[in-house]
Amino acid sequence: MSINIAIDGPAGAGKSTIARRAAKELGFIYVDTGALYRTVGVGAMRKNADTKSASQVAPLLDEMKIELKFVDGEQVVLLNGEDVRVAIRTPEASMAASDVSAIPEVRAFLFELQRSIARENNCIMDGRDIGTVVLPEAQIKIFLTASAEERARRRYKELCEKGIESDYETVLKEMIQRDYNDSHRAIAPLKAADDAIIVDTSDINLEQSIEKLTGIIKERL
Ligand code: DC
Repeated sequence: MSINIAIDGPAGAGKSTIARRAAKELGFIYVDTGALYRTVGVGAMRKNADTKSASQVAPLLDEMKIELKFVDGEQVVLLNGEDVRVAIRTPEASMAASDVSAIPEVRAFLFELQRSIARENNCIMDGRDIGTVVLPEAQIKIFLTASAEERARRRYKELCEKGIESDYETVLKEMIQRDYNDSHRAIAPLKAADDAIIVDTSDINLEQSIEKLTGIIKERL
Protein backbone atom coordinates (compact mmCIF):
# COMPACT_ATOMS: atom_id res chain seq x y z
CA MET A 1 0.00 0.00 0.00
CA SER A 2 1.28 3.46 -0.83
CA ILE A 3 1.89 6.11 1.81
CA ASN A 4 -0.17 9.26 1.29
CA ILE A 5 0.28 12.56 3.05
CA ALA A 6 -2.43 15.17 2.58
CA ILE A 7 -1.60 18.85 2.92
CA ASP A 8 -4.42 21.35 2.72
CA GLY A 9 -4.67 25.04 3.40
CA PRO A 10 -5.39 28.46 1.88
CA ALA A 11 -3.55 30.02 -1.06
CA GLY A 12 -0.07 31.28 -0.27
CA ALA A 13 0.42 29.35 2.99
CA GLY A 14 3.58 27.92 1.46
CA LYS A 15 2.08 24.50 0.82
CA SER A 16 3.77 23.88 -2.51
CA THR A 17 7.28 24.99 -1.54
CA ILE A 18 7.18 23.22 1.79
CA ALA A 19 5.54 20.05 0.47
CA ARG A 20 7.93 19.87 -2.49
CA ARG A 21 10.97 20.03 -0.22
CA ALA A 22 9.53 17.58 2.31
CA ALA A 23 8.70 15.14 -0.52
CA LYS A 24 12.25 15.34 -1.81
CA GLU A 25 13.62 14.56 1.62
CA LEU A 26 11.32 11.57 2.00
CA GLY A 27 11.75 10.32 -1.57
CA PHE A 28 8.02 10.75 -2.26
CA ILE A 29 6.48 12.42 -5.29
CA TYR A 30 4.87 15.79 -4.76
CA VAL A 31 1.47 16.36 -6.32
CA ASP A 32 0.18 19.93 -6.63
CA THR A 33 -3.56 19.55 -7.24
CA GLY A 34 -4.10 23.32 -7.56
CA ALA A 35 -2.25 23.03 -10.88
CA LEU A 36 -5.05 20.76 -12.14
CA TYR A 37 -7.77 23.31 -11.31
CA ARG A 38 -5.61 26.02 -12.85
CA THR A 39 -5.30 23.96 -16.02
CA VAL A 40 -9.06 23.58 -16.30
CA GLY A 41 -9.36 27.35 -15.68
CA VAL A 42 -6.88 28.12 -18.46
CA GLY A 43 -8.59 25.64 -20.79
CA ALA A 44 -11.93 27.35 -20.15
CA MET A 45 -10.50 30.87 -20.57
CA ARG A 46 -8.97 29.88 -23.88
CA LYS A 47 -12.43 28.87 -25.09
CA ASN A 48 -13.74 32.26 -23.92
CA ALA A 49 -16.06 30.58 -21.44
CA ASP A 50 -17.39 32.35 -18.36
CA THR A 51 -15.29 30.45 -15.81
CA LYS A 52 -18.03 30.83 -13.16
CA SER A 53 -20.63 29.15 -15.36
CA ALA A 54 -21.08 25.40 -14.89
CA SER A 55 -23.17 25.17 -18.06
CA GLN A 56 -20.37 26.76 -20.09
CA VAL A 57 -17.40 25.02 -18.45
CA ALA A 58 -18.73 21.47 -17.96
CA PRO A 59 -19.18 20.66 -21.69
CA LEU A 60 -15.58 21.78 -22.35
CA LEU A 61 -14.18 19.07 -20.07
CA ASP A 62 -14.72 16.47 -22.81
CA GLU A 63 -12.20 18.36 -24.92
CA MET A 64 -9.60 18.63 -22.15
CA LYS A 65 -7.09 15.85 -21.76
CA ILE A 66 -5.14 16.59 -18.59
CA GLU A 67 -2.08 14.54 -17.72
CA LEU A 68 0.45 14.74 -14.91
CA LYS A 69 4.02 13.69 -15.50
CA PHE A 70 6.95 13.66 -13.15
CA VAL A 71 10.26 14.74 -14.65
CA ASP A 72 13.17 14.53 -12.17
CA GLY A 73 10.58 14.60 -9.39
CA GLU A 74 9.02 17.78 -10.81
CA GLN A 75 5.35 17.76 -11.72
CA VAL A 76 4.55 18.70 -15.31
CA VAL A 77 0.92 19.34 -16.28
CA LEU A 78 -0.11 18.74 -19.85
CA LEU A 79 -3.29 20.14 -21.39
CA ASN A 80 -3.97 18.27 -24.61
CA GLY A 81 -0.26 17.51 -24.81
CA GLU A 82 0.90 21.10 -24.14
CA ASP A 83 3.08 21.88 -21.11
CA VAL A 84 1.07 24.60 -19.34
CA ARG A 85 3.34 25.13 -16.33
CA VAL A 86 3.86 28.83 -17.12
CA ALA A 87 0.36 29.64 -18.44
CA ILE A 88 -1.34 28.44 -15.23
CA ARG A 89 0.59 30.81 -12.92
CA THR A 90 -0.84 34.19 -13.95
CA PRO A 91 -3.24 36.06 -11.60
CA GLU A 92 -6.03 35.52 -14.19
CA ALA A 93 -5.40 31.78 -14.09
CA SER A 94 -5.57 31.89 -10.25
CA MET A 95 -9.02 33.47 -10.36
CA ALA A 96 -10.22 31.17 -13.13
CA ALA A 97 -9.02 28.18 -11.07
CA SER A 98 -10.93 29.39 -8.03
CA ASP A 99 -14.05 29.86 -10.21
CA VAL A 100 -13.97 26.45 -11.90
CA SER A 101 -13.10 24.68 -8.64
CA ALA A 102 -16.62 25.47 -7.39
CA ILE A 103 -18.16 23.53 -10.30
CA PRO A 104 -19.08 19.96 -9.24
CA GLU A 105 -18.40 18.53 -12.72
CA VAL A 106 -14.86 19.91 -12.60
CA ARG A 107 -14.19 18.36 -9.19
CA ALA A 108 -15.57 15.01 -10.35
CA PHE A 109 -13.45 15.22 -13.52
CA LEU A 110 -10.23 15.67 -11.50
CA PHE A 111 -11.08 13.31 -8.63
CA GLU A 112 -10.07 10.00 -10.22
CA LEU A 113 -6.84 11.41 -11.63
CA GLN A 114 -5.79 12.46 -8.12
CA ARG A 115 -6.88 9.15 -6.56
CA SER A 116 -5.04 7.05 -9.12
CA ILE A 117 -1.76 8.91 -8.57
CA ALA A 118 -2.09 8.43 -4.79
CA ARG A 119 -2.88 4.73 -5.22
CA GLU A 120 0.24 4.13 -7.25
CA ASN A 121 2.78 6.33 -5.49
CA ASN A 122 4.06 7.33 -2.09
CA CYS A 123 3.13 10.98 -2.31
CA ILE A 124 2.58 14.27 -0.61
CA MET A 125 -0.50 15.76 -2.22
CA ASP A 126 -1.48 19.35 -1.60
CA GLY A 127 -4.76 21.13 -2.22
CA ARG A 128 -7.91 22.23 -0.41
CA ASP A 129 -9.89 19.02 0.04
CA ILE A 130 -7.22 16.32 0.01
CA GLY A 131 -7.60 15.26 3.65
CA THR A 132 -11.39 15.69 3.63
CA VAL A 133 -12.51 14.37 0.22
CA VAL A 134 -9.78 13.07 -2.11
CA LEU A 135 -7.70 11.02 0.36
CA PRO A 136 -9.71 10.74 3.58
CA GLU A 137 -7.68 7.62 4.40
CA ALA A 138 -4.31 9.41 4.10
CA GLN A 139 -1.92 8.30 6.84
CA ILE A 140 -0.98 11.88 7.72
CA LYS A 141 -3.04 15.05 7.25
CA ILE A 142 -1.69 18.52 7.72
CA PHE A 143 -3.54 21.83 7.48
CA LEU A 144 -1.00 24.53 6.68
CA THR A 145 -2.05 28.11 7.19
CA ALA A 146 -0.82 31.70 7.79
CA SER A 147 -2.43 35.15 8.03
CA ALA A 148 -3.84 36.65 4.79
CA GLU A 149 -1.36 39.57 4.94
CA GLU A 150 1.64 37.30 5.32
CA ARG A 151 0.41 35.03 2.53
CA ALA A 152 -0.17 38.02 0.22
CA ARG A 153 3.35 39.29 0.97
CA ARG A 154 4.81 35.92 0.00
CA ARG A 155 2.71 35.60 -3.16
CA TYR A 156 3.59 39.17 -4.23
CA LYS A 157 7.30 38.45 -3.81
CA GLU A 158 6.93 35.24 -5.82
CA LEU A 159 5.17 37.08 -8.67
CA CYS A 160 7.88 39.79 -8.69
CA GLU A 161 10.58 37.14 -8.87
CA LYS A 162 8.82 35.56 -11.84
CA GLY A 163 8.57 38.96 -13.55
CA ILE A 164 4.76 38.89 -13.42
CA GLU A 165 3.45 42.43 -12.94
CA SER A 166 1.22 43.00 -9.88
CA ASP A 167 0.91 45.13 -6.75
CA TYR A 168 0.62 44.08 -3.10
CA GLU A 169 -2.84 45.57 -2.47
CA THR A 170 -4.32 43.74 -5.45
CA VAL A 171 -2.66 40.48 -4.45
CA LEU A 172 -4.06 40.84 -0.91
CA LYS A 173 -7.55 41.66 -2.19
CA GLU A 174 -7.52 38.67 -4.53
CA MET A 175 -6.15 36.44 -1.76
CA ILE A 176 -9.01 37.39 0.57
CA GLN A 177 -11.54 36.94 -2.24
CA ARG A 178 -10.11 33.54 -3.11
CA ASP A 179 -10.08 32.44 0.56
CA TYR A 180 -13.73 33.39 0.77
CA ASN A 181 -14.64 31.56 -2.46
CA ASP A 182 -12.66 28.46 -1.51
CA SER A 183 -14.06 28.16 2.00
CA HIS A 184 -17.68 29.07 1.21
CA ARG A 185 -18.37 27.00 -1.88
CA ALA A 186 -21.03 24.33 -1.51
CA ILE A 187 -18.84 21.46 -2.69
CA ALA A 188 -15.60 20.35 -0.99
CA PRO A 189 -14.96 23.70 0.75
CA LEU A 190 -11.54 24.47 2.16
CA LYS A 191 -11.46 23.22 5.74
CA ALA A 192 -9.21 21.21 7.98
CA ALA A 193 -10.06 17.52 8.33
CA ASP A 194 -11.05 16.58 11.89
CA ASP A 195 -7.87 14.55 12.24
CA ALA A 196 -5.54 17.11 10.59
CA ILE A 197 -2.58 18.63 12.38
CA ILE A 198 -2.79 22.44 12.10
CA VAL A 199 0.49 24.19 11.31
CA ASP A 200 0.54 28.03 11.26
CA THR A 201 3.55 29.46 9.40
CA SER A 202 2.79 33.20 9.92
CA ASP A 203 5.70 33.69 12.29
CA ILE A 204 8.19 31.15 11.04
CA ASN A 205 10.31 31.27 7.90
CA LEU A 206 10.48 28.78 5.09
CA GLU A 207 13.33 26.70 6.49
CA GLN A 208 11.63 26.49 9.89
CA SER A 209 8.35 25.52 8.21
CA ILE A 210 10.02 22.73 6.23
CA GLU A 211 11.75 21.49 9.36
CA LYS A 212 8.49 21.52 11.30
CA LEU A 213 6.62 19.66 8.58
CA THR A 214 9.24 16.99 7.94
CA GLY A 215 9.55 16.57 11.71
CA ILE A 216 5.82 15.90 12.04
CA ILE A 217 5.87 13.48 9.10
CA LYS A 218 8.93 11.51 10.21
CA GLU A 219 7.59 11.23 13.73
CA ARG A 220 4.36 9.68 12.50
CA LEU A 221 5.61 7.44 9.72
O1 DC B 1 -3.27 26.02 -4.72
P1 DC B 1 -3.59 26.91 -5.91
O2 DC B 1 -3.58 28.37 -5.58
O3 DC B 1 -2.77 26.59 -7.10
O4 DC B 1 -5.12 26.52 -6.29
C1 DC B 1 -5.81 27.17 -7.31
C2 DC B 1 -7.31 27.12 -7.01
O5 DC B 1 -7.79 25.79 -7.16
C3 DC B 1 -7.72 27.59 -5.62
O6 DC B 1 -8.44 28.81 -5.68
C4 DC B 1 -8.63 26.53 -5.08
C5 DC B 1 -8.67 25.46 -6.10
N1 DC B 1 -8.30 24.14 -5.57
C6 DC B 1 -9.31 23.35 -5.09
O7 DC B 1 -10.46 23.76 -5.07
N2 DC B 1 -9.02 22.09 -4.64
C7 DC B 1 -7.77 21.64 -4.64
N3 DC B 1 -7.52 20.40 -4.21
C8 DC B 1 -6.72 22.46 -5.11
C9 DC B 1 -7.02 23.71 -5.55
